Amino acid sequence: MNIKAVIFDMDGVITETSEMHYEAWRTLAEKLGIPFSKEENELLKGISRRDSLLKILELGHQVDRYDEIALDELMTEKNCHYLTRIGQYTKEQLNPGIYDFMLALKTHQIKIAVASASKSAPFLIDALGLRDLVDYIVDPTTVPGKPEPDIFLNAANYFNLKPHECIGVEDAKAGVEAIKKAGMFCIAIGDANILKEADLILDSTESLSLDTLKSL
Ligand code: BG6
Ligand code: MG
Repeated sequence: MNIKAVIFDMDGVITETSEMHYEAWRTLAEKLGIPFSKEENELLKGISRRDSLLKILELGHQVDRYDEIALDELMTEKNCHYLTRIGQYTKEQLNPGIYDFMLALKTHQIKIAVASASKSAPFLIDALGLRDLVDYIVDPTTVPGKPEPDIFLNAANYFNLKPHECIGVEDAKAGVEAIKKAGMFCIAIGDANILKEADLILDSTESLSLDTLKSL
């Protein structure tokens, strides 16, 4: 395989934020009187802020109670809880092996993009000390969300590359689906039962290396 770009999901791949998203959503859900468990939080991985809120409101049979302005207020409230939690992030919160892998990609002139549903991606990429390594961050407000392929195709187009020249790295089912729909090779990090559509499944980001890419 002649790989020219690696397109990373952020939450759960570059850094671990799902506990922070969970705590922020749970704080809001509690206020609304909606029970919200960790199992239900799993369904929100890779999903946009708005779709996550709608799923939580569905759980509480409350979707019809809110108009667009009220939905916006609830999303802002959740995001404030979330930003307070990630405000302390530094390179200490980088997932294992990510920095070395990105550095090796850079050394071999392989492009690096971030395709995250999160509007906080630029903030976290700075906080984690990756700004000089990442060539492009897709603006998630300009493309349909995962599992649609657009966010990954946007990154490939930015580099003028064909999908088969790119690898996507994901930890969520919706993200794996998006990468496969984009026609890219997919490396998944996590549970093989959940991420079985991926081309290669690794237990940890620690196993990401140039040798892994060369062996494909
Ligand atoms: C994804 C996370 O990366 O970003 C989701 O997996 C999150 O849990 C989504 O809802 C949107 O994030 P944000 O920061 O824009 O609310
Ligand atoms: Mg993720």
